[in-house]
Amino acid sequence: MMLHDKTILLIISGGIAAYKSLDLIRQLRKAGAQVRCIVSKGGAQFVTPMSVAALSEHEVYTDLFSLKDESEMGHIRLSREADLILVAPASANMIAKMAHGLADDLASTCILASDKPVMIVPAMNPMMWDHQATQDNIETLSDRGVRQIGPASGEMACGETGMGRMAEPEDILSAVYDFFFERPLKGKHAIVTSGPTYEAIDPVRFIGNRSSGKQGHAIACALIKAGAHVTYISGPTALPCPPGANSISVEAACEMLEAVENALPADIFIGAAAVCDWAVDNVSTQKLKKREGQSAPALTFTENPDILKTVSSHEKRPELVCGFAAETQDMNNNAKAKLLRKKCDWLVGNNVCSAQNIFGSDENEVCLFKYTDIGDQDITSQTLPRMKKEAVADFLVNEIISVFENKKDQNNEPSHTTRAAE
Ligand code: PMT
Repeated sequence: MMLHDKTILLIISGGIAAYKSLDLIRQLRKAGAQVRCIVSKGGAQFVTPMSVAALSEHEVYTDLFSLKDESEMGHIRLSREADLILVAPASANMIAKMAHGLADDLASTCILASDKPVMIVPAMNPMMWDHQATQDNIETLSDRGVRQIGPASGEMACGETGMGRMAEPEDILSAVYDFFFERPLKGKHAIVTSGPTYEAIDPVRFIGNRSSGKQGHAIACALIKAGAHVTYISGPTALPCPPGANSISVEAACEMLEAVENALPADIFIGAAAVCDWAVDNVSTQKLKKREGQSAPALTFTENPDILKTVSSHEKRPELVCGFAAETQDMNNNAKAKLLRKKCDWLVGNNVCSAQNIFGSDENEVCLFKYTDIGDQDITSQTLPRMKKEAVADFLVNEIISVFENKKDQNNEPSHTTRAAE
């Protein structure tokens, strides 16, 4: 799902948030869109047309009365060649001009001279946003079918706090996707666990593992791209939160379980986290001291709750529950046994022995095991070649999409590829 055949006319009006438009151009282009840009006089106070031209790799239009632009690319053509006109940021002034049909510069003229769909991304001071004049203008535009993204609430560049922050480029990209495509997982809630858990020994030491969170992160991003609402619950990693996810940071397995249960109900659960099987049962409240002549402290362990198994048997069991199996030997048999023991629908097996270099790597080599009650086989398997963790994520998400599409085709009959809580 890419924006390859789409042309977007991006109008950058005045406002400190205009800097976000540069990243927006980059993201739209990465998604395959052609981006043509108009920078209003106000916008040019905040971003240079040269940066905009460099990122969009197209000439940037700034002045209605440039004879050169008019002869080579009339403003009418500029707006009519677009599949979507995106005004980001949309200042209070630009919104007012649009609402009242003013055409006193290239940006507002292009909008008025076009019948193409328009999306605005308001960004302004909270008082300006709250002002009745702005709210009336917004209502007028909404009545005319102009779509709106944001604004968000938060601290503004001017130091005030309130509604008026421009939506983030990821959210704008997501809205653009939603505009062009029916996204296959729209309306679905997915919970993804990722990264390691840390089990405390004392206030400074812990037991953990080598998971970097890259695989879980890639899955969360692929689910978001497919339109799912994602709750991303991660143990400690160096990765940023996946853009657009509701991210929750945890440390220990017990906290991860609590966060997962709080996030239910969900349609999809993906347990990519490397959860420690045991926690230290006598966690010291003080730092353990090394004392001359004394032997090393003896740690005793207690078994952690099994998050995947708990979710699989939960009264709010998601429609699809998928775990991962990190194995260092006999992956086929161990993963199949794990799938049955944990009562999940799918299990992604990966061989994590050090020679395979999976933990922390950008690549993974997996086998997808699926529980099935069709035919004489309990479990089917599909082995994939070594590939980028993003590609593994795309593969898995495509498989997930098929489950929900099959379900739709069966007219909401329960799917044979997933099983209910027992
Ligand atoms: O993070 P990366 O560096 O990108 O590496 C990715 C990965 C190797 C961590 C990932 O692909 C992976 O295999 N994750 C699962 C690791 C793991 O804990 O495997 P396991 O076989 O011990 O557990 C099986 C399943 O039970 C997993 O889904 C795990 O999340 C879950 N589990 C395990 C123990 C427990 N107490 N609760 C659980 O939910």
